[in-house]
Amino acid sequence: MNQDRDILTVIVAIVLLSALALGFGAIKEQWRQQAPEMVSGPPPAYDDRGRALAQKCAACHDLTSARAVRPSGPPLWGVVDALAGGSRYAHSRAFRDVTGAECLIWSRDNLDRYLRNPNEVLPGGASGFAGLSNPEERAALLDYLMTLRDEPSPVDRSLAPDNYDTVYKSLRDKRGRLGKEWRLVGKREAQKCQGCHDLSRKSRELLAPPLWRMVGRAAGKARGFCYSPAFQAELKHRGGWRWDERELYRFLYNPQGSMPGTRMLFRGVRDDAARMALIAYLKTLR
Ligand code: HEC
Ligand code: HEC
Repeated sequence: MNQDRDILTVIVAIVLLSALALGFGAIKEQWRQQAPEMVSGPPPAYDDRGRALAQKCAACHDLTSARAVRPSGPPLWGVVDALAGGSRYAHSRAFRDVTGAECLIWSRDNLDRYLRNPNEVLPGGASGFAGLSNPEERAALLDYLMTLRDEPSPVDRSLAPDNYDTVYKSLRDKRGRLGKEWRLVGKREAQKCQGCHDLSRKSRELLAPPLWRMVGRAAGKARGFCYSPAFQAELKHRGGWRWDERELYRFLYNPQGSMPGTRMLFRGVRDDAARMALIAYLKTLR
């Protein structure tokens, strides 16, 4: 009887032990699979001089593509060749006065002057950064800053079809009036502009020039607004133009296509009738 019990105990013990061993084996196998791969290849280039110097800037500025606006300074991602003060950072009065009056672009030259002595370019600015006197260090830093930008995405260059007159006629009744359904379409399309443009008679400058009384107005004339270099180049090239209905019809189809490099990062209104109705609505804003 006792002997039987002993044998039973031994069998139970063996079964338990092998179960344990099996369990351990499975867990170990799982761990092995989850263990991170060892990183191979050369170590990252931490000896890069410009990158090391940029650590000074990172104390106040976000340098990543997240473009975080910190209380201590504006984001610097994409700053080279950008418009000064283009982020949502609440700049000092002195900064806005100088950069706004000149529509300053952070070209390499301007950045070089600024980094040599911030106070010389922006007297009374709130940077609190003493500057980098060594020209080689500035050059290395600028090389690095130039890498902080998005890969340029391919621009869709498609242009508005040349069918203004046909579309205009198709939308009007015999007395030349736009049907009620199209008036509603125009109003709805205009909501797409409101994220950036003020459409009210208050004519506030938001991210973009106000659109009150825009139809018929000369292009690029919103006072105090800093137009992009692309916009300014177009003004120079064409010697200016008026935003009449045809111009708007052409431009609003695909702003990036008709003016590559414009700050108006808006896909456009591709539907011809909807665009025409939008322009009719814009005409009422006066
Ligand atoms: C002590 C904090 C501090 C440090 C360090 C600093 N900055 Fe700034 N920087 C600022 C502030 C604050 C402003 C905004 C100034 C204003 O509004 O008057 C600014 C503005 C700028 C601007 C203008 C940005 C814009 O939106 O137009 C650039 C460019 C700039 N800094 C580059 C640098 C670089 C490059 C470095 C490193 C070499 C650096 N800064 C170091 C605080 C700092
Ligand atoms: C994402 C923001 C944004 C949206 C949305 C947007 N715009 Fe713009 N718009 C801009 C900016 C920024 C400029 C200045 C362009 C430049 O400097 O290159 C501009 C310029 C313009 C201009 C030229 C102004 C001038 O003073 O000559 C017109 C006209 C215009 N937008 C119409 C519209 C209409 C109509 C809509 C809606 C269908 C619209 N925009 C939607 C940002 C926007």
